[in-house]
Amino acid sequence: MTNISIPKNDWDSALYEDKHAFVWQYGEDLLKLLNPQSGEQILDLGCGTGQLAEKIALAGAEVMGIDNAPTMIEKARQNYPHLRFDVAESQNFRVNQPLDAVFSNAVLHWVKDADNAIASIHQALKSGGRFVAEFGGKGNVQAISKALETTLEAMGTRPAANAIPEPQALNPWYFPSIGEYATLLEQQGFDVIYANLFSRPTPLTEGEAGIANWIQMFASAFLAGLSTEQQIQVIRTVEEHLKPTLYHGGTWTADYRRIRIVAIKL
Ligand code: BEZ
Repeated sequence: MTNISIPKNDWDSALYEDKHAFVWQYGEDLLKLLNPQSGEQILDLGCGTGQLAEKIALAGAEVMGIDNAPTMIEKARQNYPHLRFDVAESQNFRVNQPLDAVFSNAVLHWVKDADNAIASIHQALKSGGRFVAEFGGKGNVQAISKALETTLEAMGTRPAANAIPEPQALNPWYFPSIGEYATLLEQQGFDVIYANLFSRPTPLTEGEAGIANWIQMFASAFLAGLSTEQQIQVIRTVEEHLKPTLYHGGTWTADYRRIRIVAIKL
């Protein structure tokens, strides 16, 4: 069994680049939907450490990346010093002049305030500008979320009464259906010209340690308020729950379900 060490920092950019490169590798497929053109002005919303912004720039577009994690922006600036990156929130960013496109990969499932994110995206675009996004859709990581919630409920060991919220309230994600998200977009003045919800089982790196790494990188909200020993106990129990379904031939596979959207500002 591999060791688990609990990181101190929520968005550890080195861990992200080292063990979770699949996030932007899968995002390359979304670039085909964006189809960036030379001379276009494009925002990469939730750019992480900058890899997809760089690809957009290589297509000849003028790109800017924003992310709400200062650690990610610092690393993006180190990786691609010729590009512009800023710290900003998806739900209240502003741009100086209207853009041709807003692109976003694997970020909007972190933004529960979808209405304000869509309002920011809308005001950032020219009329006729496009919003091209992929993120976790309805049913995403359902088995992992359920295992975390069941484990936390069953544990019952709380450091202090009322100190920890109920497991479901800890869930940091928003995984909408096509109908739900398309309605929000239409209500704010977008034409939704493409939408797809599909399963994409996603193999994790690092063999046996794959799901523990994933939980520490992406699901740390579920572990809030627990001691290091309790966090390790939760991760071990979740591994046991999930092993029969998500661990095969030495590789963990996360039960991802993606939503892809292309919408045009009217
Ligand atoms: C996702 O890309 O679907 C995802 C990533 C981290 C946490 C939850 C979902």
